[in-house]
Amino acid sequence: MQFITSNLDKISQISPNHSLTKLELEPFLQQFSDIFEKAKSRQQGFWDLPNQDISGILEFAKSVNGKYSDIVILGIGGSMLGPICLLGAFENKRESLKIHCLDNIDSDQIANLEAKINLKKTLFLVQTKSGTTPETLAQYFYFRSLFEKEKLEIKDHFVFVTDPNVGYLRKIATEENIPSFAIPANVGGRFSVLSSVGLVISALMDLDIQKILQGAQNALSTESLQSSFRLSCIQFLLSQKGKKISVLMPYSSRLRLFSNWYTQLLSESVGKEFDLEGRVVNTGITPLPALGATDQHSQLQLFKEGVNDKLLIFINVQKMENEVKIGDNLPQEFAYLQNKTFGDLMDAEFAATVQSLTESNRANVTLSIPKLDETTLGQLFMFFQTSVAFLGELLNINTFDQPGVERSKVLTREFLAK
Ligand code: PA5
Repeated sequence: MQFITSNLDKISQISPNHSLTKLELEPFLQQFSDIFEKAKSRQQGFWDLPNQDISGILEFAKSVNGKYSDIVILGIGGSMLGPICLLGAFENKRESLKIHCLDNIDSDQIANLEAKINLKKTLFLVQTKSGTTPETLAQYFYFRSLFEKEKLEIKDHFVFVTDPNVGYLRKIATEENIPSFAIPANVGGRFSVLSSVGLVISALMDLDIQKILQGAQNALSTESLQSSFRLSCIQFLLSQKGKKISVLMPYSSRLRLFSNWYTQLLSESVGKEFDLEGRVVNTGITPLPALGATDQHSQLQLFKEGVNDKLLIFINVQKMENEVKIGDNLPQEFAYLQNKTFGDLMDAEFAATVQSLTESNRANVTLSIPKLDETTLGQLFMFFQTSVAFLGELLNINTFDQPGVERSKVLTREFLAK
């Protein structure tokens, strides 16, 4: 198995004002063992997910195979961004099974979905760690009532993915014998993609979930952890030089939604008012999703010539699954495309962008994966999760809470009660 390689050390090719010298980076890199120990001491369960027992998920996927025409996932935030990313990265191998993700409380989206599905042939995956999130519960109450009106058996059409012990959904699962999968109590929403949150839907799509976990395990090797720590150090040190925006730009449409998953991971984990000693710090690094080559005709102008306040993190897929030749009988003015594949064009555009940004002193790093499959996606998930956990330690904040999300929840309840 090839590991993710990276050129994270090449940051030094850019002028020291806008990058990092060896002298600046080295003392931080030497803190790897300490920071690793600290991050591990937070008792977060995502580190252990590669070793989980997946037999129940596999059995369930087998038992429902062919039973439903549609699957609807209800969820929001960390309970949905992982599944959406997986659906964007892989074709559903069960071609006759349509999968829908309801990640908002938009009544038009809900009505449109309702019009499309046949309840008798639909399975709802209700995913919420807390089991109490109002957006997800509102969706659940609504769709459950449709099944009740039709006098359909709830436990044949609903599966809960939730906390093993607490929350409304866990209570209902126990009382009504509704099938359910547990998200370990110590796994938080945005770190849950490698739990049943991402694995149940992956198994239903017939992806190889053992390989996803194998990839995640690979990202826990010392070599890979040192790479993810290097990325955290670069983000941390560059943020002190005014580069407080991290652009994640994969050169693969299949990874477009990976950037959205990372957006939540980084935002909620490091955007904090207080440090661990309770001092006001209002810290954070702003994620910005982008897509190569598409955004070369959009955001790239800003990245190259605008305010020099960003670190660009590229993901390069060395070999696409399909090799598609552009053509062999092209007009003379397009001779440079003659006999080339789209992969060649993508590679050239990627290399050109890296060089062009480097020439303009724009800090950039690249992660390369040999190809995009279950193993490497699992690896990417874990790579970025560990990197964010390390970054939180460098920033001296609580990476795993999200108090800033609470106020709007409280106000929403107040507005509705009026
Ligand atoms: O990262 C988090 O913990 C949050 O963003 C949650 O994922 C989000 O609020 C949804 O929560 P729940 O899964 O409890 O419905």
